Amino acid sequence: MKVNCIGGGPAGLYFAIQMKKLNPKHEISIFERNPQGSTFGWGVVFSDGTMDRLKNADEESYNQICHALNHWDDIEVSFKGRAIRSSGHGFCGIGRQRLLDILEARAQALGVSLNFEENIDVDNYRDADLVVACDGIFSQTREKYRTIFQPDLDRRKCRYTWLGTKKLYDAFTFLFVERPEGWFQAHCYQFDAETSTFIVECREETWFKVGLDKFDSQQSVAFCEELFSEHLQGARLLSNSAHLRSSAAWINFQRVNCARWHHENIVLLGDAAATAHFSIGSGTKLALESAISLAEEVNREPRLENALVRYEQLRRVEVLKLQNAARNSTEWFETISQRAQLQPEQFVYSLLTRSQRVSHESLRLRDAAYLSSYETWWYQENSGQSPAKLTPPMFAPLRIRALELSNRVVVSPMAMYSAVEGTPTDFYLVHFGSLALGGAGLIFTEMTNVSADARITPGCAGIYTDAQTEAWKRIVDFVHTNSQAKIGMQLGHAGRKGSTRVAWEGMDLPLVSGNWELVAPSALPYTAANATPREMNENDMQRVLADFVAAAKRGVQAGFDMLELHCAHGYLLSSFISPLTNLRNDEYGGSLEGRLKFPIQVFTAIRAVCPVGMPLSVRISATDWVEGGTTPEEAIIIASHFREAGADLIDVSTGQVSPEQKPVYGRMFQTPFADQIRAASGIKTMAVGNIFEPDHVNGILAAGRADLVLLARPHLADPHWTQRAAATLGYADQWWPKQYVSAKRQLETNLKRANQALGAI
Ligand SMILES: Cc1cc2nc3c(=O)[nH]c(=O)nc-3n(C[C@H](O)[C@H](O)[C@H](O)COP(=O)(O)OP(=O)(O)OC[C@H]3O[C@@H](n4cnc5c(N)ncnc54)[C@H](O)[C@@H]3O)c2cc1C
Ligand SMILES: Cc1cc2nc3c(=O)[nH]c(=O)nc-3n(C[C@H](O)[C@H](O)[C@H](O)COP(=O)(O)O)c2cc1C
Repeated sequence: MKVNCIGGGPAGLYFAIQMKKLNPKHEISIFERNPQGSTFGWGVVFSDGTMDRLKNADEESYNQICHALNHWDDIEVSFKGRAIRSSGHGFCGIGRQRLLDILEARAQALGVSLNFEENIDVDNYRDADLVVACDGIFSQTREKYRTIFQPDLDRRKCRYTWLGTKKLYDAFTFLFVERPEGWFQAHCYQFDAETSTFIVECREETWFKVGLDKFDSQQSVAFCEELFSEHLQGARLLSNSAHLRSSAAWINFQRVNCARWHHENIVLLGDAAATAHFSIGSGTKLALESAISLAEEVNREPRLENALVRYEQLRRVEVLKLQNAARNSTEWFETISQRAQLQPEQFVYSLLTRSQRVSHESLRLRDAAYLSSYETWWYQENSGQSPAKLTPPMFAPLRIRALELSNRVVVSPMAMYSAVEGTPTDFYLVHFGSLALGGAGLIFTEMTNVSADARITPGCAGIYTDAQTEAWKRIVDFVHTNSQAKIGMQLGHAGRKGSTRVAWEGMDLPLVSGNWELVAPSALPYTAANATPREMNENDMQRVLADFVAAAKRGVQAGFDMLELHCAHGYLLSSFISPLTNLRNDEYGGSLEGRLKFPIQVFTAIRAVCPVGMPLSVRISATDWVEGGTTPEEAIIIASHFREAGADLIDVSTGQVSPEQKPVYGRMFQTPFADQIRAASGIKTMAVGNIFEPDHVNGILAAGRADLVLLARPHLADPHWTQRAAATLGYADQWWPKQYVSAKRQLETNLKRANQALGAI
């Protein structure tokens, strides 16, 4: 097979090596525009896990790389005059040029043709069986065929410059320095016997405020030396981009995603296809692993098209996972100013777990002493008492106004569609009863509707009649009498998403018969299949507001411990907030403040009729996941408005506002929004969404991403989720109903034995 590779970076070189190893007869040519021995940047890091993969793929280059590596275990973070270190992280660094030298020599030895100083236009090199476009993050090939590859390029909010220094850092070191214009951070690590990488980064607006756009390269380096002088201790910073204008030496990272990775005989590889922000140090790893996969598929599959399809299928998932982690990490570094109020201990924990790939328990495995001391610190900070024994964060109590929660696990609101005329049936008594016995600190009712025409479906529960209030009181009384759980009610109005069938008869589909009139801020149907709602007038709003107030009073009467106002998921109040669903041009539309006016009026009216000691939360969709919809930045403003109106907590969900939404799912995928809202507006948050392991819950709480953690589906699968979590973590003080104590003992013993057996292996 004849192959032309455009670009002699790690992706192209490693692909060529793999191809030659699989079949020495392949004719592989690499064309690189730079001269040999000249590249951008300094050192790159690999995790120990990446190194294992390289060993399997090519032992010769692996051995050479190992020889050139600098290995370290510690991460040190310097923030507000404190330096905090943790261990067990297992990284190694290598000079980028050294890595390229090793790969070039290996490729050459295998018979690959290396051609330097050749700036290639893909169309002049299509006369091969395969053309690999491994021409980096700014790939010209990708741009030339952009209508086919459909790149989605996301220019991020920070500027960075990649420098080096002769100061040797014995840990992966993060430095944070504040200037009047904003925060600067440096990512530093030693990568050979004499040199460390020193990447300096700041928000773009900070960069402009300082005037770095007007500095030449030397001035810019001098500025960084001065800024980090305390940490450089006299060492100089070095630039290998002196030939670039300063503004070009400071780059905005670009996240690259492409709808397609191949076209006829051209295939994208490495940064040309997909990038991962340098703060998780995985771009080269992704490029190398994709190179292995592409070579394998091309050699395995006789039809090129099939091979390229399979390569894309295999790699997309892996790439997406890393890009999710990288996105979390990028956003973390972009929002330092919001996190600056954190104490150094929590700032550091938050940094270590920022990508959501390093979990609470994996930190324990890395450095048990660090984690124990952090857990103790966290417990004291968050409960005001010293823990008698080590207590995982999820079992720390929380007081909000007069409400005392015994732990921080919450059953998220879940519609059960089993009410009759809005009245909760015995199904609800058993459902909430078993959840209460299962050990969560707080359980929420489903979206409970404030009038018959506020319901989503005929099976939805309400709280607008005396019979309903009585039925709820029976449930609340059971919970209070038989468990330590508290119970909150979520109040809502379906708006344009009402008058539909129960979930198992077709989600969001209108009723076959007996539909009722829908109201909404604007006369826009949810989908073409749904009825068009009537645009609400002042009278409608007054009536709905009165319904919410009456429902809140009934909630208090039924004995609920807290109330939540449902302003998410495209239901009535949510559709006032979103610009996609509120096209009004009166005072209840237009600007975000206008769109928030009615939801805030409703909230304020509810606050006024609830006891002062009763907490109120608001569930919001922190993003609509649609261009032109609510953004995460607006979610911070929304949260601040509710906070000013007296909300105690924001329950941070996302989406379901428009069927056009394109959510990015993953583990804990909504938690970064809760984190940002909490950091920026100072209000307590509740995190929800694909959180299913005790480790997730502890990590979220310990990092200060949220104050309570909600689990929905995991509680349907196991109402005893909290008790099981306690037994798994070896926390013996978790409450169990006295009737079930024998099960507690057995579960704890069995899990202990299983752990011991694992330890013995
Ligand atoms: C500041 C920073 C720090 C990083 N740190 C790490 C890290 O610690 N760990 C890690 O794994 N990754 C890291 N990365 C990411 C890593 O550098 C990239 O993901 C990796 O280089 C991708 O390899 P590649 O071969 O796809 O692209 P590149 O390395 O960019 O190589 C592409 C090559 O194509 C050449 N080229 C471009 N156009 C043409 C053309 N028309 N004709 C001929 N040649 C052309 C370029 O000159 C270049 O040599 C970092 C990146 C940055 C910016
Ligand atoms: C069956 C079911 C019903 C739901 N009903 C509601 C609801 O009434 N109100 C609400 O705000 N969210 C509702 N949700 C969303 C959940 O509260 C939660 O946000 C979502 O399921 C993500 O959490 P999970 O990944 O733990 O399931 C419902 C979810 C499920 C699975």
